[in-house]
Amino acid sequence: MDTRVVVIGGGVIGCAAALALARKGARVTLLERDAIAAGASQAAAGMLAPLSESDAPGCLATAGLEALAMHKSSAQALEEIAEMPIAATLAGTFMLARDEKQTEALRRRLAWQRELDDSIALLEGDEVNRAVPGLGEGFLAGLHYPAEMQVDARSYTIALATAAVAAGVEVVQGKPVIAFRRSGERVIAVETPEAVINADRFLVATGHDASLLHSLGVALPLQPVKGDLLRLRPARGVTRSIIFAPGGYLTPKANGTLLVGATEQPGRHDHVVEAASVAQLLEFAFSVLPSLRQARFVAVQSGLRPALPDRLPAIGPIPGLEGVFVAVGHYRNGILLAGWTAERLARAMLGGEDCIPAGFLPARLLGT
Ligand code: FAD
Ligand code: GLY
Repeated sequence: MDTRVVVIGGGVIGCAAALALARKGARVTLLERDAIAAGASQAAAGMLAPLSESDAPGCLATAGLEALAMHKSSAQALEEIAEMPIAATLAGTFMLARDEKQTEALRRRLAWQRELDDSIALLEGDEVNRAVPGLGEGFLAGLHYPAEMQVDARSYTIALATAAVAAGVEVVQGKPVIAFRRSGERVIAVETPEAVINADRFLVATGHDASLLHSLGVALPLQPVKGDLLRLRPARGVTRSIIFAPGGYLTPKANGTLLVGATEQPGRHDHVVEAASVAQLLEFAFSVLPSLRQARFVAVQSGLRPALPDRLPAIGPIPGLEGVFVAVGHYRNGILLAGWTAERLARAMLGGEDCIPAGFLPARLLGT
């Protein structure tokens, strides 16, 4: 008999999971309270940057590299199935340093990251200015990560949802899950305002919103970390690579715009963007690429990153609650990790496989 699965949340994580579950033979319904990609997934910069986004060795860097390889091998097929572009480009990343202390930090990164990717190189002095034309003054060194990529985050999420529908998933938008129904320790159904939907397994992929988990007595300490981004349109092509420097990052997009990111505002649940955030991001952008002063200002966008205290995701079963799995807390790397998370979860949910690293299991945060 087919396993019936309800996925709650139509962000990048829920859409990727629904697709992976359906491809493994489950009968899947995805319930989204608003619209597909209405949450953090529409605001993300779309960088697929496992090593420039990892400060230390561990399961995040390892999973991120596996996730990047999955993007490389699956992006074209996803575009074909969904019949839409996701703007996947091999951008490469530069991580820049302005002083000796920051340069020393880059050398320490290189020491452990080279073990994982031997294409990473440290550039010093004039090499940096030659590699990144138009760079502002005072940059002493830079790490180059040639293998890192990017996509358009919203398009990628919508493409996953479209592919999920093609694989047989029922996607229902505008329907919040408001409660669970239980039989003892087993969850047997979810309630929306109009319906009760029975299933064998349930996946909570509600981004930063922990209210449903709390209603089950699951005290995962999730919180939003708000991030604001600016979208500029440079007068002429500036950089084709992603640039990280102390204070932020610049991400040139395939449509000719460039994102300047991002603020980090823990605990904020709103999408209000203060003038000070815009000023901070613009100052950062001008200090890295002075010609951006002439860029057209296009928009500000803001999203709520789902974050746990150790800044790692929680992926897997909830101990003591049969049938319930979570995939939340992907913080700065949900676009990167969505396909990886989905594949591991589908194997765990349908085959009972023990394939999720202990550092990602929700049990680590639940005292069980
Ligand atoms: P969301 O996208 O927030 O989706 C959760 C969904 O659940 C929402 O659509 C919500 O409406 C729905 N929901 C909640 N409660 C219910 C309910 N009761 N019933 C039904 N539906 C419900 N990541 C990267 O990998 N690379 C980047 O470059 C990057 N840049 C970022 C830049 C910024 C400024 C921000 C804010 C984030 C960035 N991220 C990036 C992180 C990435 O956006 C997140 O990790 C990812 O989008 C999280 O996806 P999600 O599906 O968990 O959450
Ligand atoms: N990964 C970039 C951000 O979260 O801002």
